[in-house]
This record gives sequence, C-alpha cells and structure tokens, in this order.
Amino acid sequence: MVIDLPSELIDRLRAAQRIVAFTGAGISAESGLSTFRDKQTGLWAKYRPEDLATPQAFQRNPRMVWEWYEWRRGVAAKAEPNPGHYALAQIEAAHPGFFLATQNVDGLHARAGNRNLVELHGNIRRTICFDHRHPADSWAPTDEPPPRCAHCGSLLRPDVVWFGEPLRGDALVRAQQAAAQCDLFLSIGTSTMVYPAAELPFIAGSNGATVIEINPDFTPLSKLANFVLREKAGTALPAIAAAMLD
Ligand code: OAD
Repeated sequence: MVIDLPSELIDRLRAAQRIVAFTGAGISAESGLSTFRDKQTGLWAKYRPEDLATPQAFQRNPRMVWEWYEWRRGVAAKAEPNPGHYALAQIEAAHPGFFLATQNVDGLHARAGNRNLVELHGNIRRTICFDHRHPADSWAPTDEPPPRCAHCGSLLRPDVVWFGEPLRGDALVRAQQAAAQCDLFLSIGTSTMVYPAAELPFIAGSNGATVIEINPDFTPLSKLANFVLREKAGTALPAIAAAMLD
C-alpha cells in the first residue's frame, strides 16, 4: 500500500540534516515477532515480566528464563527484516547524519544494513555470564541449563537489559546526545513507556526537532509529536524513505 504524506512533512523530511530514528517492537511485528504490550498478542499479555525479565527471576529460576530466551532467540533467528527495517537502512546509506537507537534485541536492524546504531536493550544473540558479564560465544551442552561460563563458572544469560538493570551508559549517552542535536526524530513502533529509552523523543522535541510518530495506536508521545502517522512501520517508512531520497 502506498500512502500520501502531508506536503509540510515532505518539506521537513527533505530539509533534515541530522535524523534520529528510535524503534521499538512494533517495527519487527511485520517480521512475525511479538510486541510486548499489544493487548492480545504482546509477550506481556502471555507472560509476566517479573517471572522472565529481571535478575531476580533469573536467580529464582535460571532454567526457565534461559529456555524462554532460547525460544525467543530461535524465533528471532528465523525472522527476516521487513520493508520498515530496509527503509531505515536506505535512509542511513543516503544520509551521513543518520543515527538509529533501537530498544529491540532481535538484531534485525543490523541484518537490514544499519551500522550507525545503538541497541539500548542489548541483543538476544549475545550471551554473557551472570556474575561478571564475560562474553560467551559457545558453551558445553548440559542437561541442566543454563550452561556455565568457561572463565568463572557462573551461569550464562542473554546480553539484554532486564527490568531493574541499568542501560549500557555509552549507548544511552550516544542516543541522548543524538536526540538533543537532531532536527528530525522518528519514533517508530514503540509504546514509549519504558524509561530511560522513552525519554529520547521528548529530549528531541524539547530541543526543537520535528518529532514524527509512526504507530497504529495512541501513545504518550502522540500529543507532543508534530506529525502522527497511524500506519504500520512497513507502510510508512518506505513512503518516508521515498520522499526523502527522491
Ligand atoms: P511495546 O510492545 O510496548 O510497544 C509496541 C508498539 O508498537 C505499540 O505501541 C504498538 O501499537 C506498535 N505497533 C504494533 N505493530 C506495529 C507496526 N506494524 N508498525 C508500527 N507500530 C506497531 O514495545 P516497546 O515499546 O518496544 O524491554 O517496549 C519497550 C521495552 O519494553 C522493550 O524493549 C522491552 C519491553 O519490556 C526490555 O526487554 C528491557
């Protein structure tokens, strides 16, 4: 489906020099990956985050948490980037001032070709140990998962940010600086509810950037955004890329 963008939006897209895209689970929905907060289909409609996505949950039941992430890793590995991801890679290729901050851990932006990218919540395909964050590329098979770290013997876990854990400081600072300095900010497929990442569009808006929201549903950002496209990312982003790069 091709959508028509307002002419004022097209003018701002074409004039933009420094562009930040901020993405959430919604951009990967069209690749078949579940979001978190959508009422029927979101992961948090089926599972409780406090059972699966906190350090305490891992300490209580490491096997359950490890196996849940193993399942998600398998689903993410089979998924393919969709036209929304590819449109952002196309914009980056044409725009030296493009920066992407994602909350997604699925790795699909990098697979689509984005390089000027921070993964604020980590990446599900990387594994580290619980006690010292030693990276692990492989491990001995075990009947009692999770496997253990080859260096220190502590349990292995996914390199993602769980509730109650800090974001990697360097990733967050880069994203905050980019948001403060951009002239165009695209907020795509995120409920804009999980802080500190959710602060980014507000930082951009309060520093004078044009803020564009792409989301079929209302979010706490909708009132502040200069333009709201109630579209799927896979529809809106190719139209935006075409308008910018024509
Ligand atoms: P959410 O599940 O909270 O929000 C997904 C958003 O995507 C919703 O607002 C949907 O309306 C929207 N959406 C659904 N399909 C879409 C589509 N095809 N195109 C565009 N938008 C669509 O996911 P996030 O905002 O990413 O944190 O959640 C933020 C964080 O909460 C996640 O990174 C994760 C989660 O707990 C951690 O794992 C630390």
